[in-house]
Amino acid sequence: MRNYPLPSSLILLCVLTLASQCLYAQGGASIVNTKHNLSVTGPGPIKIAGETEICKFCHTPHSANPIAPLWNRRNPGTYYETYSSETMQATIGQPTGTSRLCLSCHDGTIALTQTYRRSKPIPGTIRITAADAGHVGTTLSDDHPISFGYTTALAARNKQIRNPTMLPAQLPLDHQGRVQCTTCHDPHNDNLGHFLRMDNRSGRMCTSCHNHEGWNSSSHATAAASVSGAQRDKWDNVSYKSVRDLACASCHRQEDSILSLCNCFNGSVYSDLLIVSRLST
Ligand code: HEC
Ligand code: HEC
Ligand code: HEC
Ligand code: HEC
Ligand code: HEC
Repeated sequence: MRNYPLPSSLILLCVLTLASQCLYAQGGASIVNTKHNLSVTGPGPIKIAGETEICKFCHTPHSANPIAPLWNRRNPGTYYETYSSETMQATIGQPTGTSRLCLSCHDGTIALTQTYRRSKPIPGTIRITAADAGHVGTTLSDDHPISFGYTTALAARNKQIRNPTMLPAQLPLDHQGRVQCTTCHDPHNDNLGHFLRMDNRSGRMCTSCHNHEGWNSSSHATAAASVSGAQRDKWDNVSYKSVRDLACASCHRQEDSILSLCNCFNGSVYSDLLIVSRLST
């Protein structure tokens, strides 16, 4: 669990206890117009009627569990199916740190209102269900691996990842040097969509950590063709549609399946390749 230095905790305490103008001036300022505003004023489809406070779904000024950063979520105690593969060098265990807190809503097992501090409980039983866009579920084996140490030793074993000392400031590891949900997502800020910390156009975010030799000159990094028709629906969340802009996301989707091949060669992107595949069947 991340241990916040005292000043940060104090700021949070201030934010949670003082008037709203103080609140908007701090870290949570931009959360108001996002799906993480679960109060009655929230813009998203999932919110709690009658609840006016925003921060308390995740933070509490008193009796927090665990203490930093003043968390107010119950631990659902879920067992997760984690990512595994033959090529992966890091060992993946059960989720730790802030990832557990994200999952306490996003695995869909307990209600959004299951907060730790119960003296003034939030009413309602709404949870994220499999039908919702934000559902991650308990199967993490098809999502990007999390809760493992991204160390210099790991980069020495796997030449296709960069040395973690070179990571851009936008992609923070936790205080134990682990990749968590919060490495790629900032729960307070949805300016880039999907609460992402970095725009992933041309695979910029992926290639901040992954270093595939020959990638930059490959056809998947340079092709201007647009994915079209039914294929487009897979990327309805982004404004760009070309193979080179989608880059890694042409083939790898994060929360869907880390590898969901797009079937570009069925003619939806390159019709000549469709003819080739027809001839060969
Ligand atoms: C959906 C859950 C969620 C909500 C709602 C939320 N926060 Fe947070 N907050 C987090 C997480 C997760 C962290 C830890 C971030 C990290 O580890 O990078 C955090 C950390 C913080 C911090 C510590 C500094 C930082 O940014 O890392 C402050 C300050 C803060 N939140 C303020 C607020 C305020 C104010 C509100 C209400 C307007 C709010 N938060 C609402 C999830 C939330
Ligand atoms: C208190 C419950 C709660 C917590 C804790 C929480 N979220 Fe969410 N989050 C939600 C809800 C509800 C939505 C809206 C889901 C929907 O509309 O399908 C959402 C939406 C999102 C989305 C956008 C999905 C979309 O459709 O655009 C992302 C990404 C996300 N959360 C990531 C996180 C991460 C990362 C954390 C931990 C740092 C976290 N959330 C913590 C409740 C929570
Ligand atoms: C390595 C970076 C990375 C990590 C780690 C990560 N995500 Fe994501 N996440 C993304 C990207 C990129 C997207 C954008 C949509 C996509 O590519 O599928 C995304 C999308 C999402 C969505 C929206 C799903 C949708 O289909 O609309 C949710 C919810 C989400 N992430 C939650 C989480 C949670 C919870 C964790 C931790 C258990 C997590 N993410 C860890 C990169 C990451
Ligand atoms: C913050 C750094 C970081 C970011 C951002 C990131 N990754 Fe990773 N990723 C890693 C590390 C570290 C590993 C573990 C490598 C190992 O253990 O061999 C990994 C593992 C993976 C794996 C599993 C590898 C295997 O051998 O099975 C895939 C697939 C993957 N990442 C794809 C992506 C994609 C696609 C993106 C962009 C959406 C992305 N990653 C963003 C750091 C990152
Ligand atoms: C044309 C589709 C395609 C594109 C584009 C693509 N990948 Fe892959 N990727 C694959 C396939 C297929 C595998 C092999 C999966 C397997 O063997 O299970 C793979 C494997 C991986 C692995 C696992 C380790 C390895 O080398 O086998 C990582 C990490 C990865 N890709 C990251 C990325 C990143 C980062 C990008 C963008 C810079 C990217 N990929 C672009 C299709 C693609």
